[in-house]
Amino acid sequence: MREQQRDGAVTRRGFLKAASGSVLASALVPAVVAPAVAAAVASPATAPLPATPRRPAAKRRYAIVGTGIRGSTMWSASALARHGDAIELVGLCDVNRKRVELVKRRLGASCPTFTDFEALLKEARPELLAVTTVDATHSGYIVRALDAGLDVITEKPMVTDETQCRAVLEAEKRSGRRLTVGFNYRFAKKHQRIKEVLLSGAIGKVTSVDFNWYLDIHHGADYFRRWHRLRGSSGSLLVHKSTHHFDLMNWWLAAAPVEVFAHGGLKVYGRNGPFRHAQCRGCPHAAKCPFFWDITKDRGLAELYVECESEDGYKRDGCVFREDVDIFDTMNVSVRYSNDVTMSYSLNAAMPFEGYRLAFNGSEGRLEIRDHDRQPWTPDRPTEIWLTRNFGKREAIDVEAVSGGHGGGDELLLAQVFAKPELPEWLALPGVRDGALSCLTGIAARKSIDERRLVRIEELVPGL
Ligand SMILES: NC(=O)c1ccc[n+]([C@@H]2O[C@H](COP(=O)([O-])OP(=O)(O)OC[C@H]3O[C@@H](n4cnc5c(N)ncnc54)[C@H](O)[C@@H]3O)[C@@H](O)[C@H]2O)c1
Repeated sequence: MREQQRDGAVTRRGFLKAASGSVLASALVPAVVAPAVAAAVASPATAPLPATPRRPAAKRRYAIVGTGIRGSTMWSASALARHGDAIELVGLCDVNRKRVELVKRRLGASCPTFTDFEALLKEARPELLAVTTVDATHSGYIVRALDAGLDVITEKPMVTDETQCRAVLEAEKRSGRRLTVGFNYRFAKKHQRIKEVLLSGAIGKVTSVDFNWYLDIHHGADYFRRWHRLRGSSGSLLVHKSTHHFDLMNWWLAAAPVEVFAHGGLKVYGRNGPFRHAQCRGCPHAAKCPFFWDITKDRGLAELYVECESEDGYKRDGCVFREDVDIFDTMNVSVRYSNDVTMSYSLNAAMPFEGYRLAFNGSEGRLEIRDHDRQPWTPDRPTEIWLTRNFGKREAIDVEAVSGGHGGGDELLLAQVFAKPELPEWLALPGVRDGALSCLTGIAARKSIDERRLVRIEELVPGL
């Protein structure tokens, strides 16, 4: 399996590697350039882009709210190891005092820690804030920080409902500050390659899209152990997870979603289980449960979660069959976009393998992608991309195999945020409108399932 930070499930090896800075990789040297996009289809751009980092004269005062797995790896250990010349960590904040102090020790940081965000703003005086808390709490921090004059980088999803979405859009407008949404998937080489082929016009005008995302019985199940299992925290996987996929689609198509219809159900996890307990530790069904997971075997995760439970009672190894699971594990969504492209999308969270199938149907051909992330067989290549022209032949599109978090997307996103290398316009940092449109697709899908009707994006947030 490719070494990769899954959502909230970084390997300890990955953490230590990132924390030590030994993966000071090629992040500053993005390898995809599109001087002539059409040519790039025939021959991928493998030559490194001559990076022209625009380093600020002085380090920016940088703070993080939310010191769980993402806040303690990508946005702190990795960011500081790679871009410590651009940022100075001035404060760490989390509602869990033990966790924030542990992360400070892990980082070897000298900055103060906070459980009170107002105190962080007042005493640490950050200029730039990374928001890496539980999804439903992002918007409160984003709005407060923008109003206090900070630039903000938020983890996806930007928001979990339409009210939060309107609040964030308004705050960005009135504050004049910049909000960046951490859509690392856009920065993965394979996803850039797809964008290049579409930009080349090789399949003509895109007419429709087939997109099926598979989460397996390891990664998919892990969402049902954690806070993600509750809509009130994650907005459901249609928001928490699909925001990545919907953002990719908006970006690939250079279009905005207009209307959404969806079906969804909880068919494997939650109340469907044959037995249940509060959490895996101490579970009387451990010997027969295929989802049993002993968190104490991973020292890094045990420190970060188990040893901090006394502060907030949060159990990272919750039972996937708990009755309170109120998100879907099986989802089908139909979306129509502003350029009249239609997409048929599905997300399934209990599959025997992980990855996706994607196809763009065009007026002059079809572009097909099969991404293999984890499976009980050895695929020829991790990512297969095929271009078939109408009345023509099928050809394989080369795609660079990349290591690093989320297909190399994490490193390139960090470089773009902190070092600002010169990249083509289509790789510009995603902003508030991108964050809104991707979340709203999922929010509309959730509403469509609940209310059994077609939902227009315009009715959620007008005028986007
Ligand atoms: N872009 C990606 O690929 C990617 C991957 C993983 C996670 N994420 C996102 O990163 C964020 C964090 O996820 P994670 O996996 O690190 O979760 P986590 O559970 O490990 O960490 C969340 C942290 O937020 C803290 N917290 C909860 N409520 C808070 C509040 N109101 N104020 C301050 N702190 C609060 C918790 O104590 C915890 O330390 C989520 O929004 C998630 O969607 C993105």
